[in-house]
Amino acid sequence: MPAPHRTQRTDKLQFFATAAQGLEPVVAEELRGLGAQQVKEARGGATFEGALAVAYQACLWLRAANRVLYPLTRFKCSDAQSLYAGVQRMPWENDLSPDGTLAVDFTGSNAAITNTQYGAQRVKDAVVDRLREKFGRRPSVERQHPDLRIHCHLHRDIASVSLDLSGDSLHLRGYRRAGGTAPLKETLAAGLLLKCGWQKIAAAGGSFADPMCGSGTLVIEAALMAGDAAPGLLREYWGFNGWLKHDRRLWEKLITEARRRQAAGRGRMPVILGYDRDARSILGAQENARAAGVAHGLRFEHRDLTHARLPAGLQPGLMVTNPPYGERMGVMEELGPLYALLGDWLRQQCAGWQAGVIVADAALGKQLGIRARKMNAFHNGPLECRLLQFDIKPEWFMRSSAAAET
Ligand SMILES: C[S@@+](CC[C@H](N)C(=O)[O-])C[C@H]1O[C@@H](n2cnc3c(N)ncnc32)[C@H](O)[C@@H]1O
Repeated sequence: MPAPHRTQRTDKLQFFATAAQGLEPVVAEELRGLGAQQVKEARGGATFEGALAVAYQACLWLRAANRVLYPLTRFKCSDAQSLYAGVQRMPWENDLSPDGTLAVDFTGSNAAITNTQYGAQRVKDAVVDRLREKFGRRPSVERQHPDLRIHCHLHRDIASVSLDLSGDSLHLRGYRRAGGTAPLKETLAAGLLLKCGWQKIAAAGGSFADPMCGSGTLVIEAALMAGDAAPGLLREYWGFNGWLKHDRRLWEKLITEARRRQAAGRGRMPVILGYDRDARSILGAQENARAAGVAHGLRFEHRDLTHARLPAGLQPGLMVTNPPYGERMGVMEELGPLYALLGDWLRQQCAGWQAGVIVADAALGKQLGIRARKMNAFHNGPLECRLLQFDIKPEWFMRSSAAAET
């Protein structure tokens, strides 16, 4: 039998925040900070409990999560017929108007259902048929911005059906105007900053720099965090906009509070700097920063690393950067000198700072010539990467000259 799903303001409900592999602990920590209860890390995210307000806060404030799901039911699903029946017996009339729109995302497979498109079709048919039987009218399919986005995951012979409250992936903050070269996903950039302890460093007035900032993702996410701005504040579409149980007054209240916090945070911005040798990237980063509403607190300069100098008297803080990776053969010859240059720059410009460097190739990381104090694996799309964390102090230096190791 499907679990009853009620959404009174005070009900304790169960939710799941999805996250890229490697960021699950970060998202779990964020959820605890938002007051979620029973937070548990899981593969691909974290489960949590709370009233509807906690799920809304998760949508609005989680920086590193991809989606917020509201699980409705789990049932045994050995074939297409049991999938259809399990979905059809859910009281969809409480969630979706027969005149509304829906989309279904389907992941996973089993021996009987091997095609996700077919699985999605059966789920959609079951919802639509139920509403048509009840009302004589049926909701229509809308891929982009449906009133209800249903997520169905099949694992072995268990189907899990959820509402996708985020609607769109949470990395779509609404500020990206320019892409640049291989931009980081916003959720990943934020997750790596959280791993590096940026919130604490910023609260203590520490500075931030990314000397190869590209389209500015790390810099902008650092500014949003330092300024206490909710990452979801610019988004207009949510998966609950057209949900029949959406509590508009509650959502408006949370938005008003987030706006108040953002206004209060504007005056607390530390120095945040972004450099890149590519002029177009810097223009794009500035455009993105304006759209994000953080341009007032950022300084961008068009500079090659060789000529990038941090302003004198800067409070030490955090440097995080994502240098070109190179995925091909011969990458060491091509990029080794750049990583060695970055290591020299860190030793010369960032004494006493913390640093995080994203590398896809461990051998390139060694070219920095500084021993990492911590190393975490994560996925950047299909690419397995590592976040190397450094204390820029002489005791960690493997060399002091500008010469690259061979
Ligand atoms: C992988 S991209 C960074 C992407 C960025 N994190 C974003 O989200 O858009 C690497 C960047 O390093 C810059 N770059 C490469 N060599 C550089 C150098 N010597 N000095 C400064 N920037 C450099 C490139 O122009 C490029 O924008």
